Amino acid sequence: MRRQQQTPLFHGVLNHAKSLPVQFHIPGHKHGTGMDPEFKQFMGDNALSIDLINISPLDDLHHPHGIIKEAQELAAEAFHADHTFFSVQGTSGAIMTMIMTVCSPGDKIIVPRNVHKSIMSAIIFSGATPIFIHPELDVTLGISHGITVSSVKKAIEANPDAKGVLVINPTYFGVAANLEEIVRSAHEYDIPVLVDEAHGVHIHFSDKLPLSAMQAGADMSATSVHKLGGSLTQSSVLNIRGDYISSSRVQSIISMLTTTSTSYILLSSLDTARRHLAIRGEALLDEAIKLAEAAREEINRIPGIYCPGKEMLDDHAIYDLDPTKLIISIKDLSINGYEVENWLRDKANIEVELSDLYNILCIVTIGETKENITVLTDALKELSVQYFDASNRNSERSDVEIPNIPILSLSPREAFYADTELVKLDESAGRISAEFIMIYPPGIPIFIPGEIIEHDNLHYISENIKAGLPVQGPEDATLTYIRVISERKAIL
Ligand SMILES: Cc1ncc(COP(=O)(O)O)c(C=O)c1O
Repeated sequence: MRRQQQTPLFHGVLNHAKSLPVQFHIPGHKHGTGMDPEFKQFMGDNALSIDLINISPLDDLHHPHGIIKEAQELAAEAFHADHTFFSVQGTSGAIMTMIMTVCSPGDKIIVPRNVHKSIMSAIIFSGATPIFIHPELDVTLGISHGITVSSVKKAIEANPDAKGVLVINPTYFGVAANLEEIVRSAHEYDIPVLVDEAHGVHIHFSDKLPLSAMQAGADMSATSVHKLGGSLTQSSVLNIRGDYISSSRVQSIISMLTTTSTSYILLSSLDTARRHLAIRGEALLDEAIKLAEAAREEINRIPGIYCPGKEMLDDHAIYDLDPTKLIISIKDLSINGYEVENWLRDKANIEVELSDLYNILCIVTIGETKENITVLTDALKELSVQYFDASNRNSERSDVEIPNIPILSLSPREAFYADTELVKLDESAGRISAEFIMIYPPGIPIFIPGEIIEHDNLHYISENIKAGLPVQGPEDATLTYIRVISERKAIL
């Protein structure tokens, strides 16, 4: 634990800045002197003094051998990994690295269909062929969960030549799969398991939370320290362990995908967040879990609003749950999730993590306060008074509509590089999409390049647009047109 008190990267940068070197190098603002005065004052001298570049005393993220190497080694110790790589390209960069490390063009990778767009981007870049697993759909809440052990086993038995199994664990909503068993099944076939752990940095530091990727024996995990672990936005880690993955291959690939101008502010924030989590994480997480459980209890007393907890567990896709995620189901109210998000903003100055048609998601972290939880529960009580009509309520919670997963008819890379044309979105059923369409957040695609567009999915898109939800992706931001694969007609 004493070792974990050290922050070699942050202190290395700090000591360098304190020595006040005369700088004839980038960044040209030179401690803010060459910067817009208002922004300079806002940022402050401290932050600007460590906005530095990879000059030799400060090591180099592309070839770590000094303070960055030491900081990465301490992080590996804290995450129980063999190697940890810092990412200044978010978890998206770390995910792309994982996939490009194991997949060459034509290789198969087993992935759930409800993946973040960075996974589909990596599949296009690498030329891999995705073997999709249907995530478990929760028709009561209207969200997708993770994947089951049995679906992974089936996918592996049918594709024993797959180069990797990718698991999202935990999901955005805090649902965890039986990762240990998934890893065991994949390793029986010598297939490595890659984990999108964007929403799971904290689970490494508390035994009251689901098992982390490294604890479950996974081979790689891309983990957003910035989302829930207290580092600055855009900073993440890539952890690897075991014999399936070559650390030098990972180093080359992450380097190919990373800017050469790596921010020492971001890197220092990773070094210090690791210390904070390793030293105080467990106690802080105990407190966050207590606050979240108290909030859940209080919310479940509010008429027309439901915040699921451990009763959801089912031994399959909902194997475990992160209690710090408050999924707040509002489908018994007379307004939708997006309207609730706006109402909370306008009436209570509350910003939620995300909303969809039927839910809002609020996250409780190691930065939470009791006062803020009270602001949320008080606002939800008021919301219920205004928008819940008990006499209109279905006695059973009615099921919600989630569209079918479209059929993939071309590999995403073939579709991405094929000849394409623009057609009206509402006339596109039956055509093959050349674009991504997703609702962001959470950035889960409705269509990916190569999938056949179906009426069901178009209906789902129009419902989301009508509700004002952020449907994004196509070249045409107005969503009137979509780019599809050109049809080749026979020549007369
Ligand atoms: C499931 C999932 N994976 C990956 C990412 C990408 O993380 P980042 O924003 O750090 O690139 C996100 C971001 O929201 C996510 O929700």
